[in-house]
Amino acid sequence: MPAAVLVGAQWGDEGKGKATDLLGGDVDYVVRYQGGNNAGHTVVIGDQKYALHLLPTGILSPDVVPVIGNGVVIDPGVLLGEIDGLAQRGISAERLLISSNAHLIMPHHKALDKVTERYLGKARIGTTGRGIGPAYGDKVARMGVRVQDLLDPGILAKKIEVALTEKNQVLTKVYNRRGIDPAAVVEEYLAYAERLKPHIADTSLVLSKALDDDKFVLLEGGQGTLLDLDHGTYPFVTSSSPTSGGACAGAGIPPNRLTKIIGILKAYTTRVGSGPFPTELTDDMGEWLRQTGGEFGVTTGRDRRCGWFDAVIARYATRVNGITDYFLTKLDVLSGLERVPVCVAYDVDGVRHDEIPMTQTDFHHAKPIYEEFPGWQEDITGAKVFEDLPPNAQSYVRALEEMSGAPISAIGVGPGRDQTVVVRPLV
Ligand code: GDP
Ligand code: IMO
Ligand code: MG
Repeated sequence: MPAAVLVGAQWGDEGKGKATDLLGGDVDYVVRYQGGNNAGHTVVIGDQKYALHLLPTGILSPDVVPVIGNGVVIDPGVLLGEIDGLAQRGISAERLLISSNAHLIMPHHKALDKVTERYLGKARIGTTGRGIGPAYGDKVARMGVRVQDLLDPGILAKKIEVALTEKNQVLTKVYNRRGIDPAAVVEEYLAYAERLKPHIADTSLVLSKALDDDKFVLLEGGQGTLLDLDHGTYPFVTSSSPTSGGACAGAGIPPNRLTKIIGILKAYTTRVGSGPFPTELTDDMGEWLRQTGGEFGVTTGRDRRCGWFDAVIARYATRVNGITDYFLTKLDVLSGLERVPVCVAYDVDGVRHDEIPMTQTDFHHAKPIYEEFPGWQEDITGAKVFEDLPPNAQSYVRALEEMSGAPISAIGVGPGRDQTVVVRPLV
């Protein structure tokens, strides 16, 4: 059976949580393959609203096995808090599997994330402050502490001591912060180990067997294409690979298992944190999009920067990820506008660019070239099929499809689980 990937096509917060939940009924396993609790997914089911950070969205569907893959960085305190929060609402995490190879976010990662951002001053990335970058940094430097280390108290203590021998020097001597007591960290993490043990598994093997048994595996990314460490707007990116190529490495399944790559694309654009954003609106229109779209961060509560749809970015996401289908979200937010501008290309110092410029310097200079589409006044939140959409909304969707270079197979017309127009089956 096939595996499908669900990937954010812009700068995150495209509505991935809702998209995964929508597919939940058809899938057997939902795997988070990268990122950590920098992600924030809101899922609305009936009158209940769930904010998930680390747990795969599949946790909300009782027949799905949720999996945290090896590519994720896990803050165990946050994970247990999230599990307990759901338990209080009657949702069990008993089925959850956690890769033994996933890395742990340690207290020094969180301390360093905050302090390095402060030192960067105006050049700061605007991270979520959750220790994501430093945790991946240690992974790459081969100094990380992994989930499986929780199963061996001797190794755990040794690894924490080695890491803190260096990191405490950095914290105290470079950043003038207090050092962290290794014994206290070992004690804290051994307590987490007791609760996490039943969930730890060789998830790559589990998923391989599941695929052999004809099960459907959905790989769920956090963040988005333009936040990808390699393919995003570096250095204003996250420290992992949300793009579809990262899905295989982060879940431990081979590329030839993937059949569908579903991009989640918002009908306009948002971004949290620093970095270039050509279609950003800093005027009343931007504020209108923020208020109408409810564009406030799920994780940090920060205002999201808002702007018009950017077809250059969508085309790029199609190309880099190999998108087979798009789920276009939040079309309802644009109802009521007279005209809807779409960025079709950039002007970089007088030269037209139909693709993202090669250098960061040029991307910072990119000015959007807009094409305007006629708006629609109707409320579309009750639309069930494509033909229910007003003609101008239909034309807008068709134009985005044409410019993005991949079919738009589903359209979000509201936050609710049932507020989706399915043009053709996604899987
Ligand atoms: P994620 O990080 O990609 O999962 O997205 P977030 O949950 O951070 O942000 C998306 C927000 O949009 C959430 O509050 C969703 O409930 C909401 N949402 C998703 N799809 C739609 C839609 O089609 N229309 C509207 N109005 N809201 C939506
Ligand atoms: P979801 O999964 C939007 C942004 C941060 C910052 C940059 C690096 O909800 O789409 P990090 O803490 O990862 O080192 O921060 O990435 N960022 C996100 N923006 N949605 C997210 O996740 C994000 N996760 C990280 O704001 O600019
Ligand atoms: Mg989000």
